[in-house]
Amino acid sequence: MTIFEPEATQGKRLYIQEVSVRDGFQIEPTFVPTDQKVALIDALSRTGLAKIEVTSFTSPKAIPNLADAEAVMSRIQRVPGVVYAALVPNVRGCERALSCGADEINVFMSASEGHSRANLRMTREQSLREFERIVQEVNGQAALNASLSTAFGCPFDGQVPAGQVLHIVQRLVDMGFEAVTLCDTTGMANPAQVYQLCSSVLKRWPALTVAAHFHNTRGMGLANVLAALSAGIDRFDASLGGLGGCPFAPGASGNVCTEDLVHMVDAMGYDTGVDLAMLLELARTLPDIVGHDVPGQVMKAGPYTRRWPLPDGA
Ligand code: COA
Ligand code: ZN
Repeated sequence: MTIFEPEATQGKRLYIQEVSVRDGFQIEPTFVPTDQKVALIDALSRTGLAKIEVTSFTSPKAIPNLADAEAVMSRIQRVPGVVYAALVPNVRGCERALSCGADEINVFMSASEGHSRANLRMTREQSLREFERIVQEVNGQAALNASLSTAFGCPFDGQVPAGQVLHIVQRLVDMGFEAVTLCDTTGMANPAQVYQLCSSVLKRWPALTVAAHFHNTRGMGLANVLAALSAGIDRFDASLGGLGGCPFAPGASGNVCTEDLVHMVDAMGYDTGVDLAMLLELARTLPDIVGHDVPGQVMKAGPYTRRWPLPDGA
C-alpha cells in the first residue's frame, strides 16, 4: 500500500518537531531578543507540536544569535508532553544544556568532512569522540538524539555516498544512540535519494527512531517529506514560516515550513496533533519579529479550505 491510499494515512500519527527558534533564528541578520524567543516558544508549546528545539549550546562566537541559550532554556514555560531539545556540538555544550534542564540533547555532526570542518572546525572522528563522552555525561539525565548534517549532499564535497551515512549511523548505534535525524542541510536531496536512504536506514535498524530534516533551498522540501513518508519516516523537523539555514553552509536557506507541512499532511488524512490555525496565527507574527517577509505559503494564501464570495454578477 502506498501513502496515497486513504487507509495508509487516515489517523496515522506524525510527529512534528519545531526548529524555527534554533535553525531559523541562528541565521537571521539580527539578534531576536530573548523575551521574543521565550514568548514564541511558549506560544508554540500550546499548538500541539511534539518537540521544540529551543536553542543551541554552541560557541557564541560561531552563533551569536543564540548566545542567550541558557536564558531561553531556563525561562520557557514547559508544557507536559512537549519535548524541549537543545542542539549540542561538544561536551561543553552538553554540560551547558544539562545545567538548564534540556529534555533532549541533540548532538550534531556532519556526514561529510568538508561541512564538518566549515561548520564545527572538527573532523568527523573528533565529533564522534565528543559524542562518546557526551553519552557518558548524559547518563540518563536527558534523552539523546544525533543529527547528521549534509546526509544527502554537501556544498563543499558534493555527493555524500549512502554507505558513508550508514557507516556513521552504525557508529552512533554502537555508541548507544537510539534516535537519529537525517538532515539535508542545503536542500540538495531529491525524493528518490530520500526514499532510498531512509528505507535503508529503517530496514537496517528497525528499532532506531529516525527523523528527517529537510531544507527547501531548491524547492524540493515537501516532495522530500513525501518520499520520507513513503519510506516509513513519521517524524519531521520543520520551521515556522520556513525560516532557517546553517550560517556555515554557502547558499543555505529555510527549512521545510511547519505550517505548510502540517497543512499538507492534514489534508492527506494524517494526524499531527497540531492546531494549524494556531500555527498560522503565529507564522503571521514572524515578519514583525525578524523584520522581513518569510517563505511560508499557506500563511499568505490561507488553507485550502478557504473560500471567497462569488464576485457580483457572477
Ligand atoms: N559553548 C560555548 N562556548 C564554547 C563551546 C560551547 N559549546 N565550545 C567551545 N566554546 C568556546 C571555547 O571556550 C573558546 O572560547 P574562547 O575563544 O573564549 O577561549 C571558543 O569557543 C573556541 O573553542 P574551540 O574549542 O577552539 O572551538 P572551535 O573554535 O574549534 O569551534 C565549535 C568549535 C564546535 C565550538 C564551533 O565551531 C561551533 O560552535 N560551531 C557551531 C556551528 C553551528 O551551530 N552551526 C549551525 C548548526 S548546523
Ligand atoms: Zn537545518
